[in-house]
Amino acid sequence: MVRPITITAVERSFAVEGEAPVRALAPVHLTVAGGEFLSLVGPSGCGKTTLLRIIAGLLPATAGEVRIGDDVVRAPDPRVGIVFQKPTLLPWRSVMENCLLPVEIMRPFSPAEGRERAEALLHLTGLWDFRDRLPRELSGGMQQRAAIARALVPDPEILLMDEPFSALDEFTRERLNEELLRLCAERPKTVIFVTHNIGEAVFLSDRIGVMAPRPGRLGAVIDLATLPRQRDAGLRKHPAYFDKMAETRAAFDELLA
Ligand SMILES: Nc1ncnc2c1ncn2[C@@H]1O[C@H](COP(=O)(O)OP(=O)(O)OP(=O)(O)O)[C@@H](O)[C@H]1O
Ligand SMILES: [Mg+2]
Repeated sequence: MVRPITITAVERSFAVEGEAPVRALAPVHLTVAGGEFLSLVGPSGCGKTTLLRIIAGLLPATAGEVRIGDDVVRAPDPRVGIVFQKPTLLPWRSVMENCLLPVEIMRPFSPAEGRERAEALLHLTGLWDFRDRLPRELSGGMQQRAAIARALVPDPEILLMDEPFSALDEFTRERLNEELLRLCAERPKTVIFVTHNIGEAVFLSDRIGVMAPRPGRLGAVIDLATLPRQRDAGLRKHPAYFDKMAETRAAFDELLA
């Protein structure tokens, strides 16, 4: 049973010295069903990372609450996997050792099974040949791929991803989009995925939340249920894909007008 995420009237302000507080989030209401893939798109500074950090239990809300299933989020939950906007690898551990970290801490699998999963994900993300390197010996995009592999190793029930593929070339991004969907199909997860790329959001998601700034808020939700179920490379050529991109862009234009 994969749990839903319920966001009820979540607000967040930040104090700024000598100025009025920044309203990073006006009340946000959103329910992400168990097993649903929801993307958040919106211009820089509209509160996407702030919302994700609140859902992850890394930042308290000023008001409102987030529930995962029936549990109110008060602290990070080990069943929640997070990929941050900037890769956060431990600099003294190799790529493989970084990927094994969540298995060592949480022990969701036997050590042998954990290693098997880490190996498979390092192959998948194209990092197998770099498994013994330290993070500083990798490019930014490779570090980000290592952070993605690490988040997936413990097979989290909830996956929060903050622009995970933005540092990657288009070809690698598309391939990893397809692999991410394959992993979600294999073992259902509730996913919230932040991106600036509308095509990526349409390709991956069941729904897209369009956010607007000042104050940060959820302005529109686009339902993608009418897209063909088969989300493979062929979808990127399907007329319905372009229609949904246009619909998302129009929602954006309306919100920012
Ligand atoms: N720790 C903080 N202190 C003060 N202000 C903050 C802090 N964190 C975020 N903010 C402000 O809150 C607003 C939302 O920031 P957030 O990082 O959530 O935006 P974002 O949508 O993720 O942007 P981007 O697309 O650039 O990553 C911004 O105005 C930002 O300046
Ligand atoms: Mg951000």
